[in-house]
Amino acid sequence: MAKVVVSFDHVSKLYKLFRNDKLRLMSVFSKKVNYIEKWAANDVNFTIEQGDSVAIFGSNGAGKSTVLKMVTGVTFPTKGNVVVDGRVSALLELTAGFDPELSGRENLFLKCQLMGMRDKEIVAVEQIIIDFAEIGDYIDQPTRTYSSGMLARLGFAISVNTDPEIFIVDEALSVGDARFQEKCLHKVQEIIARNHVTLLFVTHAIDTAAKFCSRGIVMKNGQVVFDGHIDDAVRLYQSGDY
Ligand SMILES: Nc1ncnc2c1ncn2[C@@H]1O[C@H](COP(=O)(O)OP(=O)(O)O)[C@@H](O)[C@H]1O
Ligand SMILES: [Mg+2]
Repeated sequence: MAKVVVSFDHVSKLYKLFRNDKLRLMSVFSKKVNYIEKWAANDVNFTIEQGDSVAIFGSNGAGKSTVLKMVTGVTFPTKGNVVVDGRVSALLELTAGFDPELSGRENLFLKCQLMGMRDKEIVAVEQIIIDFAEIGDYIDQPTRTYSSGMLARLGFAISVNTDPEIFIVDEALSVGDARFQEKCLHKVQEIIARNHVTLLFVTHAIDTAAKFCSRGIVMKNGQVVFDGHIDDAVRLYQSGDY
């Protein structure tokens, strides 16, 4: 039996929506501040095995990115349990964990260390990442001096050049100019084609999902309404009848 690499066990995520930041701050000190509850994920259950390729469909606000962020550890469940076993690399929140005062090179090391890589492994891909990112001599400048495009390119370059075990792609994301995007797409396709890679893919491009994924999850209002064969998921999602 294949190894389970991601499991969601009764996972829910609550966001508290305050009318403004002042009220949000006051809520830290007082229980009396009013807010609206938004369950971005609501009792989500699934397991993903090594090598699975899973597309997540759903309209805007369905909870897709929230689920992905809980896999990457960018955000945590309010209730339930998320277990992830394997090195996660995500094309989402590309620059999460960057320290603006550190140089690009230092952030590269930091991020790779956070992903669980050993120094020797990092040194082996360091130059490959820097070349991919196309930021030249800026690599030794503090990242606060980078444009948002440079930051995103560095984040992307790290994510795709660190031999991911669990690869997460949130398609809403596009980095750089048309030429750089083309280069990214090629790289993503090359990673997805690797046998051992587990893929979690959020996209509105249904053809691409059907090409790369064998399983589809459909979400609505924070809940999983379908989980099964990609063809059935696509049919349901396209019908809009869920
Ligand atoms: N940081 C946040 N603070 C408050 N609400 C959020 C936050 N992130 C997401 N939400 C809300 O949670 C719901 C699900 O969002 P999201 O997971 O981004 O959906 P999707 O990726 O499917 O479009 C939406 O209603 C969204 O507005
Ligand atoms: Mg999203």
